[in-house]
Amino acid sequence: MILKKIRKHALIAERRVKFDREMKRIAQYKNPLLAKVLEAFFKVKKSRFSSEDLLAFDRCESYRQKLMKDNTIVSYEVFGSDQTSTVAGICKRAASKPKWCQLLYALADIPDQPVVLEIGTNVGISGSYILECIKDKAGSRFVSMEGLPQLCELSSGQFENIVPKEQFEVVQGLYDTTFPEMVSKKIPFNLLFIDGNHKKDPTLEYLQQLKLIISYPSIIIFDDINWSEGMKEAWKIIKADKDVNYSIDLYNVGIVILDREDEKRNVGFEFHLAY
Ligand SMILES: C[S@@+](CC[C@H](N)C(=O)[O-])C[C@H]1O[C@@H](n2cnc3c(N)ncnc32)[C@H](O)[C@@H]1O
Repeated sequence: MILKKIRKHALIAERRVKFDREMKRIAQYKNPLLAKVLEAFFKVKKSRFSSEDLLAFDRCESYRQKLMKDNTIVSYEVFGSDQTSTVAGICKRAASKPKWCQLLYALADIPDQPVVLEIGTNVGISGSYILECIKDKAGSRFVSMEGLPQLCELSSGQFENIVPKEQFEVVQGLYDTTFPEMVSKKIPFNLLFIDGNHKKDPTLEYLQQLKLIISYPSIIIFDDINWSEGMKEAWKIIKADKDVNYSIDLYNVGIVILDREDEKRNVGFEFHLAY
């Protein structure tokens, strides 16, 4: 555990040292979506948000604070487990931290008409940030997938506070069943956040299946790319996928750009955003 932390900090220190060099390198590539992703990164890094954005963040963080006091028991029965946890415990452990949610918010602002897929709703923290960003964009849509029924109910209630019911869908059920069903609907997503079932094979399978239905260009964000050996291996394979043009490794999160108009492939960058 301690060794893992030391390794992480050493790696982040190395990224800080080579940051200027990475910036020079990325500037050589003229892909418009890559430039927008970089802009989103700096928006978060330098806190370049409008007062309206900051108010939206406050609303999301008030929701988080409310959940942190919620001792309702959540059952994991659908996963075949007799384990339980409180909402507060789940929120503390699994919900994305504010900086990473701000990054999602900034990325969700990139498409003119965002059609967003989230795999891993959890208590709806990341989803709240995404919806706050896209709520006023005409034709925007948000689909989020979660196995635990109680969390689906909780997050749906929260999402309804942000947008009308028609603008979002929380798909309840285990991904083994719900993912193929969702793919068969052929929704042309253009922003995807893969943050559920952090295992190598399912993660790779999600990418292969989603590539068949997304619109191009698209941005896909993979969470927890360094969480386990399996996820590290998955991220290596994702970066090298024949349809991935650019990848940005932020240690906790990996972002890939798929753009059929650009012939460059598998160009990778490594930055540091937050711990
Ligand atoms: C890390 S949490 C998502 C966090 C959320 N995106 C956020 O940033 O606030 C992952 C969620 O995926 C759900 N999940 C994991 N594996 C699943 C599976 N095979 N089927 C359905 N849901 C699953 C878990 O119940 C959990 O709520």
